[in-house]
Amino acid sequence: MSAILVLGAMWGDEGKAKVVDYLASNADFVVRFQGGSNAGHTIVTNNNKYVLHTIPSGILYPKTKCLIGAGVLIDPAAVIAEIRQLEKAGISFKNRLVIDFRAGIVLPLHKQIELKSETKRRGIKIGTTQKGIGPAYSDLTARYGIRMADIENTDSLKSNIKNLYSYHHLGISKIALAAQIEELLEYWKYLKKYVGDVEALLHKIASQPGKNILFEGAQGTLLDLTFGTYPYVTSSRVMTDAVGIGTGFSARNLDKVIGVYKAYTTRVGIGPFPTEIADETADYIRETGNEYGSTTGRPRRIGWFDAVAGRYSARINALDNAVLTCLDVLTGIEQLKICKGYKYQGKIHRSMDLDNTQMLLCNPVYEIFSGWDAHIGNCKELEQLPLEARLYIEAIEDFLHTPISLISVGRDREQTIKVKAKKR
Ligand code: GDP
Ligand code: IMO
Ligand code: MG
Repeated sequence: MSAILVLGAMWGDEGKAKVVDYLASNADFVVRFQGGSNAGHTIVTNNNKYVLHTIPSGILYPKTKCLIGAGVLIDPAAVIAEIRQLEKAGISFKNRLVIDFRAGIVLPLHKQIELKSETKRRGIKIGTTQKGIGPAYSDLTARYGIRMADIENTDSLKSNIKNLYSYHHLGISKIALAAQIEELLEYWKYLKKYVGDVEALLHKIASQPGKNILFEGAQGTLLDLTFGTYPYVTSSRVMTDAVGIGTGFSARNLDKVIGVYKAYTTRVGIGPFPTEIADETADYIRETGNEYGSTTGRPRRIGWFDAVAGRYSARINALDNAVLTCLDVLTGIEQLKICKGYKYQGKIHRSMDLDNTQMLLCNPVYEIFSGWDAHIGNCKELEQLPLEARLYIEAIEDFLHTPISLISVGRDREQTIKVKAKKR
């Protein structure tokens, strides 16, 4: 058995789905363990583009099974729409999808609460994806949440929903309650065949020789509820240890942890971003890299590679390897920058020890690198990249203290360079 984790090392959208899809060609199982439809995971192959939200990025390989762990939130309507859309594109789900019966669900109420709470907040807005993620996770923590397996039992479902509304100091009319239950039962009819015990399944698979399991993170480490840039974070745990929390398959069983980084940095939503730039270069990167949110369509904020945050992420995730994506997007930029420290009140901080207010006020300390002009989208080996690109990659590897195992030079599955392991 081999168990590999691919997770986002920065603020999300690092190109995780491209990497998972690339590695999934020999995976028997691809497993999601946190997040929900706030994720937008893009795969491009043979000029076809797929954007996945809750379905794991192994779905394009007919023999790969996709598992959704207990820590993932299910928005039933959104998941059904996603399955139907993929089926329309010719993808079969027969015996290929299992959703853990323990997974919590997102109700319309959660989206209403989220909209209100974002509007009401004084000063701080988070800029969430408005998918109901925060409120649904909060309700689960408060033990008022509703989980997949709860839908089937209509009587307890009724009292669970009533309790949930009163917990939020809201009323629900008999008619509205009946309509909500009817709707959930309709979803259940459709989803029932996919509901199972992912925890038990993973342990069964692990006891069989030769099986490959790939865990797919959503969001990114700097959006982790505790270790991210709180409160500008998501409401789930995003780091390596979240695998155990979200599936029941302990992170101790992982053979390898791979962190995905972009060759620059992006962020959607509000919050500190020390290397952010808002000039012509940012516009160039946004347009060349098509840096618009896969879930919300919002323009992504753009910045230089942040090695301070990057190294922090490598450390808390105990990364074995890093993957660098979107290197091609930097082609044509004369001078590249990597942030190696945050300057705050005259002192240079080389680790992420500033709080949010300080992070907003600090100035990045950069090391400058020469860019390159050559088109690199067809490069298949590291040696084919321009010298300047190789020096830039080497510098990132040194800053992260983590060997880079893959480099992505285009959106397509094929535009990927496998880096030979160095003798150390
Ligand atoms: P994820 O959420 O981490 O899976 O990433 P997203 O799919 O939200 O965003 C990454 C974007 O970058 C997508 O549009 C990908 O198609 C694209 N992408 C991934 N790798 C590369 C690459 O190497 N070069 C370019 N140009 N685009 C890439
Ligand atoms: P993938 O998996 C980038 C951001 C939102 C917001 C914050 C909280 O595609 O990398 P939420 O709706 O989760 O409560 O929003 O987190 N965010 C993401 N940013 N990629 C994502 O997912 C994200 N999921 C949430 O923009 O700042
Ligand atoms: Mg994304």
